[in-house]
Amino acid sequence: MNNALRREYLAALGLTTWVARGKVVPAMLKAANKSSVALEPPAIGPPAAIGPPAAREAGVDWSELRTRVAACTRCALSATRTQTVFGVGNQRAEWLVVGEAPGAEEDRQGEPFVGRAGQLLNSMLRAVGLAREQVYIANVLKCRPPGNRDPQPNEAAECLPYLEQQIALIKPKIMLAVGRIAAQNLLRTDKTLGSLRQQVHRFGISQVPLIVTYHPAYLLRTPTDKRKSWEDLKFARDVCAHV
Ligand code: URA
Repeated sequence: MNNALRREYLAALGLTTWVARGKVVPAMLKAANKSSVALEPPAIGPPAAIGPPAAREAGVDWSELRTRVAACTRCALSATRTQTVFGVGNQRAEWLVVGEAPGAEEDRQGEPFVGRAGQLLNSMLRAVGLAREQVYIANVLKCRPPGNRDPQPNEAAECLPYLEQQIALIKPKIMLAVGRIAAQNLLRTDKTLGSLRQQVHRFGISQVPLIVTYHPAYLLRTPTDKRKSWEDLKFARDVCAHV
């Protein structure tokens, strides 16, 4: 991407300065490559009552997985959804972006991150040289919680095996969890988003490196944190380059 274009995307993010970076490997990343104890993955146990994540959908191909998701009635959200929101993007993506759950517009259109937050997410990705079509975008939940309430633990537990199987098919180099709810559900923690940023976590059975950043909807409300989000995306890009 040329500099003028990059400046345009950064301006869309409300960031006007671009600091040229060399091939500096962040200290945190160096530590991760050495499998430092501090960056060990958090202990991830199986969700209650459904066995190990992914086992339920293991071995399923894209077409069968899509069919299973579309017909899913594993939690009560199936009764209130317009349609499931499977995920979208490059099935061989290096980056897998994971949000919380579909909102009203996503429920209507059947695609994740299509509203204003989605536009900002696209700009955030462009700022690190990624087109929306290059990455894969999904959510912790495939169905919209009524009134956009937070996902309930049983809903996340029932839905995460679908994401696990998407990961098994995509084999991404990196996951980007956007927002506290996505991060807490994926990492099974109640830690704050601020404390989860700028670290290399690992997700699930596949142990894919996972980076946490702010949700674009939050950034629309709190534009002063866009700069921190940009730092997170650059961190993720560095991690991805060293996987
Ligand atoms: N917010 C999310 O977390 N996911 C979407 O798909 C849309 C908004």
